[in-house]
Amino acid sequence: MKYMGSKRAMLGNGLGELLGREVPKSRRFIDLFAGSAAVSVHVACRFNIPSLAFDLQAYSAVLAGAVIHRQEALDPNAFFPAWKRRAESLVKRLGVPDTTKVTIASVSACRKWCSAQSELPITKAYGGHYFSAKQAVWIDALCAKLPEREPSRTVALAAVIHAASQCAAAPGHTAQPFQPTKTSKRYLAEAWNRDIVQKTHNAFESIGILCAQQQGRAEVADANEAATRLEEGDLAFIDPPYSGVHYSRFYHVLETIAQGSCGEVSGIGRYPAPELRPRSKYSVGSESPGALDNLLETVASRSARAILTFPDHECSNGLSGTTVREIASKHFHVGETQVSSRFSTLGGTGDGRADEGGRAARQHAKEMMLVLNPK
Ligand SMILES: C[S@@+](CC[C@H](N)C(=O)[O-])C[C@H]1O[C@@H](n2cnc3c(N)ncnc32)[C@H](O)[C@@H]1O
Repeated sequence: MKYMGSKRAMLGNGLGELLGREVPKSRRFIDLFAGSAAVSVHVACRFNIPSLAFDLQAYSAVLAGAVIHRQEALDPNAFFPAWKRRAESLVKRLGVPDTTKVTIASVSACRKWCSAQSELPITKAYGGHYFSAKQAVWIDALCAKLPEREPSRTVALAAVIHAASQCAAAPGHTAQPFQPTKTSKRYLAEAWNRDIVQKTHNAFESIGILCAQQQGRAEVADANEAATRLEEGDLAFIDPPYSGVHYSRFYHVLETIAQGSCGEVSGIGRYPAPELRPRSKYSVGSESPGALDNLLETVASRSARAILTFPDHECSNGLSGTTVREIASKHFHVGETQVSSRFSTLGGTGDGRADEGGRAARQHAKEMMLVLNPK
């Protein structure tokens, strides 16, 4: 899954080795900004300690919980075919408009039909925009007919979230869907013709074969609150936002799938109202240094150790590698390594700020990894 700031690539580029040295010294692993769950899942599958994952966003808890709540692999053939059949019976009842050929007229007809589907939250909010009518109806049907029991229910929901992220007609995140203009309509057509059911099946299989060595827990929670529950012997993983734009603006479609509803949406990006989206102090320039200081003070007061990763340059949320190091050394003995990383802008438009700027900023990006030990 493409995710802004995902540590998946870094797991094979220094972070995996660092975890290999630090995790075995710990009682529990606590991912305080879990995001795509790449790190909490990596640790849960490889190490014999519980992995806990927290994030403000519900889809993150679904992605993490789909693996870290389970100590046994799931056989996809035991669940997927029956799930698909139940969803298909729902899809067949609806006369979904055909958008194989993308034109201004077919997109407009598709949007009109989708916006009238008041019983289908994804279709109503996003059909004709991020998804074709057919894809959107399938997402709604798959969500309405999820397996009833755990753990297959959460694995199935995580599979739909993965598939939706792969099919969304947008450049990497869900903030600006492609429009049927002369230049963009081929991207729209390509995305709308992706097979959401096949992608859900693939994701169900690849998530299902993973499982945790020890049962963990995934929760929607604020990192600063979750940190108050740390204990001596815990290793916290701290990978906070670096962008001055809230994650909930980029990933509201995934959040709607995880929550099952979203209220009214508006604008080209089809966002739910800001008050219905999670707001993070870490994405507000005037609040982010204080939030990080408070978090590290709490982690230190619980006698826990931590690994903190952050881009080593000035970021649009008011934090930089230098300020992060300064705050960390107030509370911990700090050891440091750096790795090169491709900076993720996910196709967002640059506004001149270092972290969302042009190619040069991306080419020279370095990510620092701080190992924080109690003083
Ligand atoms: C840089 S991303 C983490 C990426 C993650 N390590 C991965 O590999 O995918 C930051 C995450 O922090 C979450 N977040 C923002 N503010 C938060 C807060 N106050 N408490 C918990 N999570 C928060 C965002 O929703 C986002 O998923």
